[in-house]
Amino acid sequence: MSAEIIDGKAFAGTVRERVSGHVKKMVETHGVQPGLAVVLVGEDPASQVYVRNKGKQTVECGMASFEHKYDADIDEATLIGVVEKLNADPKVHGILVQLPLPKHLNSDLIINTIAPEKDVDGFHVVNVGRLGAGLKAMVPCTPLGSYMLLKDRMGDLSGQNAVIIGRSNIVGKPMGQLLLQANATVTIAHSRTKDLPAICKQADILVAAVGRPEMVKGDWVKPGATVIDVGINRVPAPEKGEGKHKIVGDCDYASCAEVAGAITPVPGGIGPMTIACLLANTVTATARIHGLEEPADLTF
Ligand code: GUN
Repeated sequence: MSAEIIDGKAFAGTVRERVSGHVKKMVETHGVQPGLAVVLVGEDPASQVYVRNKGKQTVECGMASFEHKYDADIDEATLIGVVEKLNADPKVHGILVQLPLPKHLNSDLIINTIAPEKDVDGFHVVNVGRLGAGLKAMVPCTPLGSYMLLKDRMGDLSGQNAVIIGRSNIVGKPMGQLLLQANATVTIAHSRTKDLPAICKQADILVAAVGRPEMVKGDWVKPGATVIDVGINRVPAPEKGEGKHKIVGDCDYASCAEVAGAITPVPGGIGPMTIACLLANTVTATARIHGLEEPADLTF
């Protein structure tokens, strides 16, 4: 079998079109322009690329983009003051503090300073708790994007066996919550899980979110399963020339695609969905803050 390729890049375009439509309506009907503030500390090159892309796409969708950049040696109290100011700014509906932060800053403290209703990353403990309790929450962007692709392909997920590899707060745990709420049977596997290949082989839905290049092999995959590869790993690619690199996922794409029914590629799968869902979350946050109707096509 050769798996269907789940085109996350194309679906992200669809999400952005939806976002643009809702933004236009909010501006024209209610005089409200959604605004996203991104806080970047230091010079991490990958973070700078992310932040630039986020800002560009925010503006392209008709929203306001605010970038706040600080030197790596900013002190914690000053950064907390920055977040508090954004909390109080009526033009700002979404706040994202780019991670990782320099080591001298307490990330948990800073993330939990963000007003929960503006926490478009869904990392604040209030949103984590609300999601776990089945209440309205801001949902982390990568699991939300993964879930949208799964729903688009599979429809009802009720009774499906879902295996998630990785128990991070950013992907694994919230992904488990979303799939549980969709009535899937959820297993979250991790580095201490025994006989991981056998566990994976039972999955109708396999989500790989471990950050280990090409770890999941084709013989771990149940024939016909849907495979969501969240990994973005930069590895040497000597075949492209000396010193060259390439991006691969957590799944060995060639062997997994032979067995799976459908699979997300890397790049072009989950990656583009993450930023699209950040824009979607900003619109959702704006609707909630202003008491407007929440767009049903931007959430789970
Ligand atoms: N760094 C890499 N990805 C992300 C993300 O989705 N949110 C935040 N806040 N930082 C990141």
